[in-house]
Amino acid sequence: MTEPDGAANRADLPGRVALNPVHRDFFAGGAGEERTLRRNEEAFAQRWIVPRVLRGAGARDLRTTLFGTDLTMPVLIAPTAFHRLAHPAGEVGTARAAAAAGTIMVLSMAATQPVEDVAATGAHLWMQVYPQPDEDFQRHVVKRAGAAGCRALVVTVDSPVLGRRERDRRHGFRDLPAGFACENMRDADGRLRDIAMDPALSWEHIDRLRASTGLPILLKGILHPQDARLAVEHGVDGLIVSNHGGRQLDGALATVDALPAVVRAVDNRIPVLLDGGVRRGADVVVALALGATAVLVGRPVIWGLAAGGPGGVRDVLETLRDELDHTLALAGARRPADLSADQVA
Ligand SMILES: Cc1cc2nc3c(=O)[nH]c(=O)nc-3n(C[C@H](O)[C@H](O)[C@H](O)COP(=O)(O)O)c2cc1C
Repeated sequence: MTEPDGAANRADLPGRVALNPVHRDFFAGGAGEERTLRRNEEAFAQRWIVPRVLRGAGARDLRTTLFGTDLTMPVLIAPTAFHRLAHPAGEVGTARAAAAAGTIMVLSMAATQPVEDVAATGAHLWMQVYPQPDEDFQRHVVKRAGAAGCRALVVTVDSPVLGRRERDRRHGFRDLPAGFACENMRDADGRLRDIAMDPALSWEHIDRLRASTGLPILLKGILHPQDARLAVEHGVDGLIVSNHGGRQLDGALATVDALPAVVRAVDNRIPVLLDGGVRRGADVVVALALGATAVLVGRPVIWGLAAGGPGGVRDVLETLRDELDHTLALAGARRPADLSADQVA
């Protein structure tokens, strides 16, 4: 995603893409001074790969299995809101690219198209939810996602309140424009609800959610190793080390800096994924070497969608695949599992 003329903040790159500047700032921006947003990328830039040589690794095999789903590579699409503001094809367009690439799309609770339409693309879908204090409503959303074919639930736990997004505040951007809605926030009568954030929610909420669904549950937004241990104790199936792309707590630890301690705490009991600042195949290799099972990308997918619809997202995913394959070869690995933490300095 680096522009030829080398912009300072790569999150700001797609200046040439025809996006409404208010929406562009919504997609690009982070919380507060955007220190964490920048640090996610910088922390990857400060990691160096130590290649192994003469290992006879041969042709690479990027395939990965997550909760019974076979993926062609360990790169997934992170849940991001409002795809129809980036391109008329919306989440359905992103899902088409995910299906073509053979990876998983995590559909945001703030998606602008119904999960049933997105699932009709044939893409492997996971559904992201913010824990909703109205548990009847939450069960309804989860049931609907399961019925549509979503194979796992991603519960975002880093948002007890909304981050202070200063770009959005400056623009007065709060709600979707007329004609757009969070289509998966409809109750059983078809009425739209607002996404609720509730700082009172605790592990008991996760326990009840756990008891209410047979779908695998991943917690997204884990940075502290003690929370990772608690998640395993509460029967969670997977973790996503994430700081919401720097959009929630400004000053939060960069994800690649948080990853090793979380991986140690989990001790191979459940998969640990990571998102935030992954822009190149080398970033993927660093995360995998440090113990991530897979990574997710957020903004790169949005820029691909804005620039070229489903084909643009496909280009982003295929570029990452090529770079990952190439970097693995140069690092002396055939498969992601061949990488080890001593290959990152
Ligand atoms: C525009 C935008 C909208 C997002 N919406 C959601 C969301 O609805 N739910 C969620 O769990 N995370 C959301 N995220 C966070 C992403 O899932 C992910 O953590 C982050 O984008 C990863 O960082 P990256 O953009 O540097 O790849 C959003 C991120 C962006 C940039």
